[in-house]
Amino acid sequence: MTLQPHERILVALDTTDAGVATSLSRQVAGSVGGMKIGKEFFTALGPEGVRRVMDHGVPLFLDLKFHDIPNTVAGAIRSAVRLTPLMVNVHAAGGAAMLRAAADAAEEAATATGVTRPWVLAVTVLTSLDQNDLAAIGVAGSVLDQVKRLAALAQENGIDGVVCSGAEIEALRNQCGPDFKLVVPGIRPAWAAAGDQKRILTPADAVSRGADYLVIGRPITGADDPAEAAARIKDELDGVN
Ligand code: C5P
Repeated sequence: MTLQPHERILVALDTTDAGVATSLSRQVAGSVGGMKIGKEFFTALGPEGVRRVMDHGVPLFLDLKFHDIPNTVAGAIRSAVRLTPLMVNVHAAGGAAMLRAAADAAEEAATATGVTRPWVLAVTVLTSLDQNDLAAIGVAGSVLDQVKRLAALAQENGIDGVVCSGAEIEALRNQCGPDFKLVVPGIRPAWAAAGDQKRILTPADAVSRGADYLVIGRPITGADDPAEAAARIKDELDGVN
């Protein structure tokens, strides 16, 4: 199924207020493909908060970045499947057995409960880390080499795609092929403030480089009129194809 360009947008609902999240989600749902809920929201409001906000059937990226022993990650994935997300994620640095356990748990839990299997994505190297940070934790070589190494490990162990920076899209698309999902944060329309994101791409640039999904937070959620900001990004994106 081919997505329309605007359906590639996931809005990051980074808030601890379920009312704010519900209102934002309802305002922008018609212009985007889904919502992303992460650790800030989930730690404050839990699965019940997710159910409350996602009650209108919008696709969900549950961004909890699990990283633990394989048995524990498998259990966490099984619990996550109950929320019927479109995608969930883990840290690729958890290693081959953890990645395989996560992929298998998603499959088994979805089959057992009769829901669609979520894609399991991997985080490779956090974009907050540079080469010096990697050296300090014992990883020699460049950030891109480590990203590519962990993406290959993830793909070999049944993972569906990665969360990556805009700068990594082309290298990963070449390495991992057309079906591997690339989900990209750090997106800023030309008219939005960059904030603390350093390596940014516009939505249209990210899609033309090969991103499958774009995670967009503050340009939409921090706008005076989130519905208008989302509609503007939708129009910009749909105009490119
Ligand atoms: O507000 P903004 O568009 O910067 O939000 C980006 C979202 O993507 C946030 O939820 C943030 O945690 C997440 N993210 C990111 N950079 C990464 C990975 C995730 O900004 N490298």
